[in-house]
Amino acid sequence: MNGKNIIILGIESSCDDTSASILINGEIKANIVAGQSVHKKFGGVVPELASRAHQQNIIPVVDAAIKEAGIDKKDINAIAFTRGPGLLGSLIVGTCFAKSFALALNIPLVEVNHMQGHILAHFIKNKENRYPNFPFICMTVSGGHTQLVVVKDYFDMEVIGETIDDAAGEAFDKAAKIMGIPYPGGPLIDKFSKTGDAKKFKFPISNLEGYNYSFSGLKTSILYFLQKEMAKNPLFIEENKVDICASYQSTIIKSLFKKLVKATRDLNIKQVAIAGGVSANSLLRSELNRIGIQENWNVFIPPFEFTTDNAGMIAIAGHYKYVKNEFVGQDVTPNARLKI
Ligand code: KG4
Ligand code: ZN
Repeated sequence: MNGKNIIILGIESSCDDTSASILINGEIKANIVAGQSVHKKFGGVVPELASRAHQQNIIPVVDAAIKEAGIDKKDINAIAFTRGPGLLGSLIVGTCFAKSFALALNIPLVEVNHMQGHILAHFIKNKENRYPNFPFICMTVSGGHTQLVVVKDYFDMEVIGETIDDAAGEAFDKAAKIMGIPYPGGPLIDKFSKTGDAKKFKFPISNLEGYNYSFSGLKTSILYFLQKEMAKNPLFIEENKVDICASYQSTIIKSLFKKLVKATRDLNIKQVAIAGGVSANSLLRSELNRIGIQENWNVFIPPFEFTTDNAGMIAIAGHYKYVKNEFVGQDVTPNARLKI
């Protein structure tokens, strides 16, 4: 099977999804993701429970990926794993598994920065054969991060702006929790918003200098707003759910684009991509297309399966490091605060 092929096993375990992927010459052959429902009743990820679930899931998930790809484990050329950023206990499980498996198979080990992985998902082979050209700007929006990144090359990236407090995904999830919507709230707020009136309620947009974001004020404003309204009418959330969701969602999306548009104009970069879990959001995707036409951008929107955490994005990052012979030794350790 192997010959001249480059076969990468990708492993992702930075938060609450255990994922393994097989990538052959940049093309996804398997991308298995095991979510963890154990966190639902807590309204957020419980780190200790996440690492325990990764321990249970990692072997079956890797096994399923190898079987689905129809390869033998001996065909794998290298193992790419998420070294950080993320929850330390979760990262330890993926890192230890990757190290042991690479040692057993006697193949090289490649470390991947999770945030670079989200961005490099745009280089996974696609039917249209359409990939961003360097330099491009990527707005990476996830549960843990909100970043504007100038991508000059596969591993030459500069963060020009980021959130100073909550991430965009957190802004979705925390508001959902206040409204009694289960975790993760982002996809449900997206769904409810579809039938809501986005102009019904007004929430504030932060106005920081430069390209940085802030979402904590928005979260506080929805909390106080709902407390006040619920005191007058205990059915307020129930009766206005879709309009609250639509108004709140549109505020987040507006603040995201305010800085993105500013950055692309200032730097005169017309290639624009989005990445990360929140890039699954339907309003974000449609606004990128709409504003993209106005601003004359060439836009790149990842397929749904590569927006939220997945090992396909780790495998593609691993592929580009593999061709550069960028390997790490058995002494590598995870880094919960790894920077781009
Ligand atoms: O990238 P990701 O899977 O994990 C991190 O690295 O954080 O992102 C997860 C985040 C969660 O906050 C989730 O609510 C959000 O992505 N998310 C969405 C949507 N799908 C996932 N937020 C808004 N709309 C969606 N459709
Ligand atoms: Zn992520």
